[in-house]
Amino acid sequence: MPQDKIKTILVTGGAGYIGSHMCVELLQAGHNVLVLDDLSNSSEKSLQAVERITQKSLSFILGDIRDSELLARVFAENKIDAVLHFAGLKAVGESVAEPIRYYDVNLNGTLKLIEAMTNADCKTLVFSSSATVYGIPETMPIEENTATGAINPYGRSKLMVEQALMDLHESDPSWRIALLRYFNPVGAHASGEIGEDPNDVPNNLMPFISQVAVGRREKLSVFGDDYDTPDGTGVRDYIHVVDLARGHLKALQYLDEAPTLGVFNLGTGNGYSVLEAIKAFEAASGKTIAYEVVDRRAGDAAVSFADPQKAQRELDWRAEYDLARMCEDVWRWQKKHPNGFSD
Ligand code: NAD
Ligand code: UD1
Repeated sequence: MPQDKIKTILVTGGAGYIGSHMCVELLQAGHNVLVLDDLSNSSEKSLQAVERITQKSLSFILGDIRDSELLARVFAENKIDAVLHFAGLKAVGESVAEPIRYYDVNLNGTLKLIEAMTNADCKTLVFSSSATVYGIPETMPIEENTATGAINPYGRSKLMVEQALMDLHESDPSWRIALLRYFNPVGAHASGEIGEDPNDVPNNLMPFISQVAVGRREKLSVFGDDYDTPDGTGVRDYIHVVDLARGHLKALQYLDEAPTLGVFNLGTGNGYSVLEAIKAFEAASGKTIAYEVVDRRAGDAAVSFADPQKAQRELDWRAEYDLARMCEDVWRWQKKHPNGFSD
């Protein structure tokens, strides 16, 4: 693997949960960072925290990835070496209610970005895909060549972008593209200064648990305990957001080597049940998490965990943090900022 060359990186969605952790890792690796974000699901305070953590500064451009004129200007004014593309909408239920908005932001937004990159001759892109592209897989662990088949508009928007990027690479093999399929990102930076800050009632397990722990919610609803799993609750591959961000740094190094298109699972390879996640959080926080078992959530798989070997082999990356550490870091962030960035 080549050493990191200093680069100028455009991070779309860089004010968001994963993007802000990415900015920390990029700045600490010495790169120049430009964030483009419309703040539709984030706060500029996350970027201020990134600068405090790293003692380095980044450039922030407030705007929408669908704004072609803005994109052209950003690429004209900066010599951008690579784009890490996090900007997008991610709530499954909302995507069912508002599919066209999801296709517009996630698919059309990415196409606009590709057009601007092409015009600027910037052909290195890391795309935030998701294990959701596998739908409800029949075999575990999930390998990159496990059949895809998304089951909701959010998942289909990710799959469509993946397919568009594969076609793009086929038509012009000088592109360098990594499609990173994240499993379940959780955790927060060890400083407790950035973390996940859902706008509304959290859809995902870990932020819900931590809001129960801090007293913002009364109890967790456990979506089903009659799955074919050891304790009957759903099993997932939770991955620390800092590990995830470091996987992107490795993907950039991999793309440095040669033009290519690579598809990688980013997960730990370990599955934990909802009840195990509750126990781990209780141990990390010293709080009791009240919960009740309710019906299954429509569209949920019983089990989902990655085979992470391809990323280990080809990116020289593996997740380092365990579930206990993920919970400790979430708790530190939640305790310091009970109301997220609005504190
Ligand atoms: P997030 O909502 O915290 O971050 C997304 C950022 O994109 C936000 O800051 C938002 O303001 C910005 N954004 C949205 N629409 C935009 C637009 N039109 N123009 C410019 N900026 C826009 O979400 P996240 O959890 O950090 O996810 C980042 C990416 O990773 C997303 O593409 C998401 O689909 C993908 N992903 C997330 C998860 C997860 O569980 N968090 C899992 C798999 C994949
Ligand atoms: C969800 C999304 C998926 C997305 C992923 C990102 C759905 C149907 N799927 O997946 O598309 O890529 O987030 O991380 O929304 N659970 C509870 N109570 C809760 C919340 C969750 O019991 O309040 C359970 C779920 O049933 C599941 C596990 O906890 O077994 C994890 O859920 P979640 O964090 O929402 O992630 P995914 O379901 O994997």
